[in-house]
Amino acid sequence: MAFEQSLLSKVFATNIGLRREAPRSAGSYERELDERRGTETRLRKMLASEEALLRQKDELIHNSEVLSMEADHRLLNGLQMIVSLLSLQSRSESNAEAAEHLSTAAKRVATLARVHRRLHALDGQESVAFKPFLQELCGEYRSILASDDRREQTIVVEGADASLPARTAVPLSLIVNELITNAAKHGGGIITVRLEEPPEGGLLLSVCNQGPPLPEGFDPAASKGLGMKIVKALVDQIGGELRTGRCKHCGGPEFSVAFA
Ligand SMILES: Nc1ncnc2c1ncn2[C@@H]1O[C@H](COP(=O)(O)OP(=O)(O)OP(=O)(O)O)[C@@H](O)[C@H]1O
Ligand SMILES: [Mg+2]
Repeated sequence: MAFEQSLLSKVFATNIGLRREAPRSAGSYERELDERRGTETRLRKMLASEEALLRQKDELIHNSEVLSMEADHRLLNGLQMIVSLLSLQSRSESNAEAAEHLSTAAKRVATLARVHRRLHALDGQESVAFKPFLQELCGEYRSILASDDRREQTIVVEGADASLPARTAVPLSLIVNELITNAAKHGGGIITVRLEEPPEGGLLLSVCNQGPPLPEGFDPAASKGLGMKIVKALVDQIGGELRTGRCKHCGGPEFSVAFA
């Protein structure tokens, strides 16, 4: 009964509504049609301009990717050129000490190029899975050591899998380069590169090698060499702390960088 009543009242209301609606002229229908056509044209134009903007955005992204690849390519070519010039100059230098310095400089620039090439291969990712990255980088040093016939010296990478922002990964790779170079030059035995997550938080990257420990009171800041100065500057750049001491695993000299 209630249902029938509500149906009746609906029909009644509709009829009243129909009765209230004034009859429309053909002209008013045409005007409405014109308005709708106008709205449709405007919407189509807006859609077309949105699509054009999207195409423009895609083109800009593509152009900037090409530019960045081009810039990387030029940077790598430039670095390669510097390596060649320094090596050439080193070979033509009659003073043995100066020749050695020039060759060391060439190796440093070559490392910089290698690190950039490896990072470039990560295709602009903002963060780097650092352990595999270190493993690949150390693989290259391993082959250099093998070709130098230092078969007793090898490099192992151990520790945590951490993902680091590229702005930290680049300086850290250069630090590792200096520390591995030192371990190979001044130390002996197996070189271990270790990435740890210490209980006090942050990360700890260390390079140690088997061999006689560092002398008592060794101060890296007092070093006359360039390597430690480079390391110190890069550690400051990432807001880290450089520590030196004796490795608790192998007992040899250990250099570590604590960073957030
Ligand atoms: N792994 C190591 N084992 C033993 N001594 C080391 C080790 N690493 C560094 N040292 C000592 O620290 C010093 C400073 O190192 P640094 O890298 O600044 O200079 P360098 O290696 O002598 O020269 P450069 O780096 O300019 O070629 C070295 O001369 C060496 O005495
Ligand atoms: Mg050095």
